[in-house]
Amino acid sequence: MERTADIYRDLERILVTREEIAEKVRELGQRIGQDYAGKNPVMVCILKGACVFFTDLIREIPLPLTTDFMAISSYGNATKTSGVVRILKDLDKDILGKDVIIVEDIVDTGITLNYLMKILIQRGASSLRIAALLDKTARRKVPDLHVDYVCFDIPDAFVVGYGLDYDQKYRNLPDIGILSPRIYNE
Ligand code: IMP
Repeated sequence: MERTADIYRDLERILVTREEIAEKVRELGQRIGQDYAGKNPVMVCILKGACVFFTDLIREIPLPLTTDFMAISSYGNATKTSGVVRILKDLDKDILGKDVIIVEDIVDTGITLNYLMKILIQRGASSLRIAALLDKTARRKVPDLHVDYVCFDIPDAFVVGYGLDYDQKYRNLPDIGILSPRIYNE
């Protein structure tokens, strides 16, 4: 998609380009490949935001991994977290004794992931790590949440693209951009 496409006008600016994303995702895939050498990790995609990152990332990991999907609700249509997390779609397979890597789009307050980690630990995963595309560390409300793999630390701004949405839009942007506040103040 050209960066001159109409939906790019809703961005204040591009924060991370598709080229920068591809490079980091490749590096992360290699790192996970080394860290999990000899293992068959279960890669868990947190829908919907992580879908684009997930499909790129798993293709950079040279291991016999398996995939599973979970959908949770945290935001609704607003740009602020509600603190209420609901499982909308659960994993298909049991994770007892498995090495699980949760793949998330963005860690903001950390409330969503903290909740998820608790649930998956209770289910007896033998190891559990988090891979996040973006991290807004400045907004963290769960200080002891450890995010094992992060592609980009970003400032406190509402971002869209590469799977991240505002009101289900902008997921198809190949780059990550800061959404112009006029869009959500309308
Ligand atoms: P947390 O529970 O506050 O960490 O929120 C995490 C979830 O909020 C993410 O998985 C996203 O779905 C959503 N989110 C947080 N910040 C943004 C953003 O800047 N753009 C789009 N979604 C976001």
